[in-house]
Amino acid sequence: MAKVTISTLGKMKDTGEKFVCITAYDATFARIISEAGAETILVGDSLGMVLQGHDSTIPVTMDHMVYHTECVCRAATQSLVIADMPFMTYTTPDQAMENATRLMQAGAQMVKMEGGTWLSGTISKLVERGIPVCAHLGLTPQSVNTFGGFKVQGRTPKEAKSILADAVEIKDAGASLLVLECVPANLAGDISRKLDIPVIGIGAGPGTDAQVLVMHDLLGLSGHTARFVQNFMEGQTTIQGALQSFVQAVKAGEYPTEEHSYT
Ligand code: KIV
Repeated sequence: MAKVTISTLGKMKDTGEKFVCITAYDATFARIISEAGAETILVGDSLGMVLQGHDSTIPVTMDHMVYHTECVCRAATQSLVIADMPFMTYTTPDQAMENATRLMQAGAQMVKMEGGTWLSGTISKLVERGIPVCAHLGLTPQSVNTFGGFKVQGRTPKEAKSILADAVEIKDAGASLLVLECVPANLAGDISRKLDIPVIGIGAGPGTDAQVLVMHDLLGLSGHTARFVQNFMEGQTTIQGALQSFVQAVKAGEYPTEEHSYT
């Protein structure tokens, strides 16, 4: 398979073919995720929780992200690599430019930032200068303390309207992808239909253009299980088998189902 680019993902949206994203933080898992056929790999700041043992992503630093992005990019031969900008590293466009440059020089093809309307100036500045951006809306884990916990977002009409408006604004600012986390399935479906950029869901129901899961969750290794997580190790004897099973289930429209979705 040739290296996936943002054009590949745009064409997949146009033809209605679902694509897959899985988190990775090291070279070995990046290689087997890439070989399993996941079009994209996210070097997520979830590494603060699943690798470092923190109870949130807030302690993650730029140095951590650069190190893990370099490890992943050495081995992700086919997948497009997206790297997370950690907490408080993109508070101004200039700060974002400096830190996003480090992740691109570490080998990422795109950076991800959590936020809506307030980020639009930063997104357009990065995109104009050659750094593709994935935005992240809904349950944005870096704002866990503002939300008062890891809670589903967009359940009231006011919240849903605000997430939709944010999505349109970040798309207009030039974002190439949007992650929607833990929002009602009907809201995620509406946003995916309205935007002409691919939308990647996690806990956002079956109506998005793609799905992402934290690797440790889909392998059944996390201590907790959210409603939207399925353990793809069940019925498999190898990690490679579980990763392929996740990729196939997303592409076949068999995951997620209503039982994994919020209303
Ligand atoms: O950090 C991460 O792994 C993420 C996913 C949960 C989307 O942002």
